[in-house]
Amino acid sequence: IIQPVILSGGSGTRLWPLSREKYPKQLLPLIGEDSLLQATVRRVEGIAGVELAAPMVVCNEEYRFVIAEQLRVMGKPGTVVLEPKGRNTAPALTIAAQAASANGADPVLLVMPADHVIIDKAAFQAVVRQGAALAAGGAVVTFGITPDAPETGYGYIQAGAAFEGDGAKRIARFVEKPDLATAEGYLAEGNYLWNSGLFMVRASVWLAALKVCRPDILEACDKAWAEGKNDGEFVRVGKEAFAACPSDSIDYAVMERIAKPDAAAALPAGVVIPLSAGWSDVGAWEALWKALPKDANGNVAQGDVLLHDSTNTLALSEGRLIACVGVNDLVIVETADAILVAHKDKTQDVKKIVDSLKAAG
Ligand code: GDD
Ligand code: MG
Repeated sequence: IIQPVILSGGSGTRLWPLSREKYPKQLLPLIGEDSLLQATVRRVEGIAGVELAAPMVVCNEEYRFVIAEQLRVMGKPGTVVLEPKGRNTAPALTIAAQAASANGADPVLLVMPADHVIIDKAAFQAVVRQGAALAAGGAVVTFGITPDAPETGYGYIQAGAAFEGDGAKRIARFVEKPDLATAEGYLAEGNYLWNSGLFMVRASVWLAALKVCRPDILEACDKAWAEGKNDGEFVRVGKEAFAACPSDSIDYAVMERIAKPDAAAALPAGVVIPLSAGWSDVGAWEALWKALPKDANGNVAQGDVLLHDSTNTLALSEGRLIACVGVNDLVIVETADAILVAHKDKTQDVKKIVDSLKAAG
């Protein structure tokens, strides 16, 4: 049985003005009618030959009603696990593993970020089916993307020896967010993949690995779990205990260690399966433009938009008409209280606007 675990923590400041603190990007209907979170739930539906548990979402308690409602309207109520405070992905996955095994089961967790786009659902489902078998056998499975630029915001996985056929490889090395020179070196070397941020691992295997790598995180989560409760609607953990948990990501806390030969004996095998399915971490508007279907001129228009003699532009209107004449490579986002006009190559810097708005109060 596979337990989908959706991590919904980040706030996505680079997608301002659509993404706000009160309404982060994964909860917005960015692509068609579904939010990215809902699209993530749908992506796993109907994997052939795999028994799928109802989705589990781990999120900050502040978003519990929006998220429960988004699952409800899809007819997938699932489980919503609440964090009193964000402590990054390692503690989030740990309380998910505890919740998933509370009834004595030991499912394979399919850990998915709530804010990614994957275009080819069938290709994604095929690697999940492959990963399920390897994870059931005790491995920690990652999915690797062929890199096309020395991005420093990703983890890099060096693929090693073949692992049980079908293109899966041992993780020879895992380096989270290297600096630019290092990332350029990896691209030049050629056998490195980006970590997609999707993982498959049995609940018990994750907890055992964490015990080796970060016993302090496990201890804090155990305490928070023991103090928590399941009120039927939401699963909660002890507030103070969880807030006291050290903050760290899955990648730094465990994945980098798993790949090191000296740790191999006590730790599960790390495996990478190549994923070629139109994956995109929709961090900024430019990535969203890339991920969305475009018209013949490379434009993406949503809402009330008129385009004349314009190319490679993303225009999203929530209400008022956006009219573009003779423009190229722009991002225009219209909302009730703010309008963004940005060059498509500069959308990483939207974060600077958000920072200055915050500073101004
Ligand atoms: N519930 C919960 N709580 N979710 C969280 C938390 C938290 O405290 N922190 C982050 N998340 C969620 C985010 O919403 C996102 O969906 C996912 O976990 C990954 O977190 P990010 O903060 O977006 O990580 P990243 O993008 O810097 O790096 C990760 O993803 C990259 C691919 O997109 C790493 O796994 C990299 O190695 C990887 O390349
Ligand atoms: Mg991310």
